[in-house]
Amino acid sequence: MNQYILYCRAGFERDCAAEIQFKAAEVGLYGFCRTQENQAYVEFELTQETGTELFSVLKLDDLIFTRQWFKVIEKLEGLAETDRISPIIKSLIGYQFSDIRMEYPETNQGKEIAGFAKKFTVPLRQALKKQTILTDNTPQNLHLFMFSSTHLILGMSLQNNASDLLLGIRRLKFPADGPSRSTLKLEEAFHQFIPKKEWETRLSSGLNAVDLGAAPGGWTYQLVKKGMMVSAIDNGPMADSLMETGQVKHFKEDGFKYQPKKQNVHWLVCDMVEKPSRVARLMTKWVENNWCKEAIFNLKLPMKQRFQNVQQVLEETQISLYEAGVRYELKAKHLYHDREEITCLLRRLD
Ligand SMILES: C[S@@+](CC[C@H](N)C(=O)[O-])C[C@H]1O[C@@H](n2cnc3c(N)ncnc32)[C@H](O)[C@@H]1O
Repeated sequence: MNQYILYCRAGFERDCAAEIQFKAAEVGLYGFCRTQENQAYVEFELTQETGTELFSVLKLDDLIFTRQWFKVIEKLEGLAETDRISPIIKSLIGYQFSDIRMEYPETNQGKEIAGFAKKFTVPLRQALKKQTILTDNTPQNLHLFMFSSTHLILGMSLQNNASDLLLGIRRLKFPADGPSRSTLKLEEAFHQFIPKKEWETRLSSGLNAVDLGAAPGGWTYQLVKKGMMVSAIDNGPMADSLMETGQVKHFKEDGFKYQPKKQNVHWLVCDMVEKPSRVARLMTKWVENNWCKEAIFNLKLPMKQRFQNVQQVLEETQISLYEAGVRYELKAKHLYHDREEITCLLRRLD
């Protein structure tokens, strides 16, 4: 069985499916997807038995619409309520895992199983330990993807190519003094794109930042909290609490025309509601001109074929950077706090 389950935000199944088919085909793996709208996951099945694992040729980090994935081991239905554990053990003989992920589709129906999942963890863990299916020092995690207490899919993921978060979701607490809920998008983007060991240099106090489309200031808030000096560009008003910090200068200008006065900007962030291609071109211009070292930006996706649109925009960006001779890192992810949009990082590597 060469099947994979990919988790995504409910409503984005088609994008998740289009992306995995496209990216797997690029590395010579062909397959098809089964999915239903709003079920919050996609089933991807490879059509040829090549022996190549999807995990060995694709990185979860390189997929935009997939939050988490696992390879299917067995689908179990009609489990007896008196003994769910024996059939699970039977299916897992010969496998070894270092941890268990009790998961379910990120839908209202799926969440109803969360209570059962929690209770079931302890006896399952004990039974798996006894059989040495659960042991230390193995790079694999076991997934129980549950639809009900009697119906689930067993699967495995590789720790170095999977999310270490439950359901691949980073839950963040909205700060009481945050000017808008959007603030969580930038906070999540920092976690997603910047390794913790690089925070000290790339998110350090004293760096200069520009926030295009800044009002009321949720993204500026994150930069200010890191101790940065921020030029906030927007015709709309910025939160007084941010202006009072002394770290923010507000310019009522068009974000598409604004240019930095000095070459001392590290971060450009942009949350303007505009066509993705227009925003991406603006970000590319900043990076190519060395007006900033790195940029985090949102691409709003109100259209139907989101993956195809994004793919085209990112390809255009890559071509432009290549032609300009700029070495770069480009990443894109549909974050948990994103809705009809994705978040990208573009960074100069010189
Ligand atoms: C989604 S909101 C930004 C929210 C902000 N990131 C936050 O966390 O509070 C988009 C903002 O972009 C601004 N905007 C749209 N087009 C703009 C432009 N051409 N120049 C400057 N600001 C623009 C709007 O005024 C609006 O305040």
